[in-house]
Amino acid sequence: MSKENNETIIELKAVTKRYGFGDAESYALHNFDLTVKRGEFIMIMGPSGCGKTTLLNIIGLLDKPTSGEYLLNGKNVEKIPSRRKAHFRAKEIGFIFQNFNLIPNLSVIENVSLPLIYSGHHKTRRLRKADDILEHFHLREREYYMPYQLSGGQQQRVAIARSLISDPSIILADEPTGNLDSRSSHIIMEELRDIHAQGNTIIMVTHNPALTTYATRVINMLDGEIDTDIKTVADSDLPRPGDPEKISVRILSKKRPVELEVDSQTKVVVSGEHVTIGKGVSKKQIADIKKSSNDDKKADKSKKKEQKTRKIVKKTDKKSKDEKKES
Ligand SMILES: Nc1ncnc2c1ncn2[C@@H]1O[C@H](COP(=O)(O)OP(=O)(O)O)[C@@H](O)[C@H]1O
Ligand SMILES: [Mg+2]
Repeated sequence: MSKENNETIIELKAVTKRYGFGDAESYALHNFDLTVKRGEFIMIMGPSGCGKTTLLNIIGLLDKPTSGEYLLNGKNVEKIPSRRKAHFRAKEIGFIFQNFNLIPNLSVIENVSLPLIYSGHHKTRRLRKADDILEHFHLREREYYMPYQLSGGQQQRVAIARSLISDPSIILADEPTGNLDSRSSHIIMEELRDIHAQGNTIIMVTHNPALTTYATRVINMLDGEIDTDIKTVADSDLPRPGDPEKISVRILSKKRPVELEVDSQTKVVVSGEHVTIGKGVSKKQIADIKKSSNDDKKADKSKKKEQKTRKIVKKTDKKSKDEKKES
């Protein structure tokens, strides 16, 4: 399988969003250029008022630029008729907001099934789909709760379930952990990490620099422009739909060789005798570790290991002989 992952899904060219005229004129975005590849997990940071929400709203087709061009999957958004645009938004873009934005007088399951209105499915089918996704989020027993009966963290997980129900290719999250305690934030970030590992594209605004370890790219904005734009993972290492979720890593140390199966997004750092398993490193780095541990293996000519291997081979031989006898 080719590891090339250069499919551009979002392209903003000199996008400007202006408010007011004359003396009252101000820019929420100013000549903003941005290219997003499929599978990126972008975190947007920057001071309050620098245009982060405006940017997400334009990308999510909730707002229009004053000038400039927006290409979504290579198509100029301005040329898409508004009804098709609404349909596209419901189908392809999942939104997660700081205030969860659940509809207060609808139950959890009704909230989650809402984006499927555009799918043309009958209500029973929509609710069944919502039921499935709520089960995945371990929220099935709260399906018929009203939003006010849930904690903030639970409300946000319902909102994430809702954002995923139509299987969108782009997830836009505006400070999704801004109203949550650190434990709930962590749970939400783990959910987003899983969604990303499945090959989805995520653009998330945050004030919390600690969360940027989850990202493959971090953009700092200032006064409606990009201040810094740093990729932490190469495009060729971005996850793609259908990639294995688990990777087995073999770490050979003289004292204690370990073989573990980790999430494809798990960070494995080997430094001297210490092995740290954490979050947020690319598959390439894991592959490098695997490779170097294999190289170690080749170099390591310890007899013990050879004997051990022989034993295993013997066992297998014996087993297959036994099998032959039986048949
Ligand atoms: N509807 C609006 N009318 C006038 N100014 C607005 C409007 N929406 C946003 N702005 C201005 O645009 C700038 C960027 O806002 P926003 O995108 O919400 O920033 P951020 O999300 O980074 O805090 C701010 O100066 C804000 O006051
Ligand atoms: Mg904002």
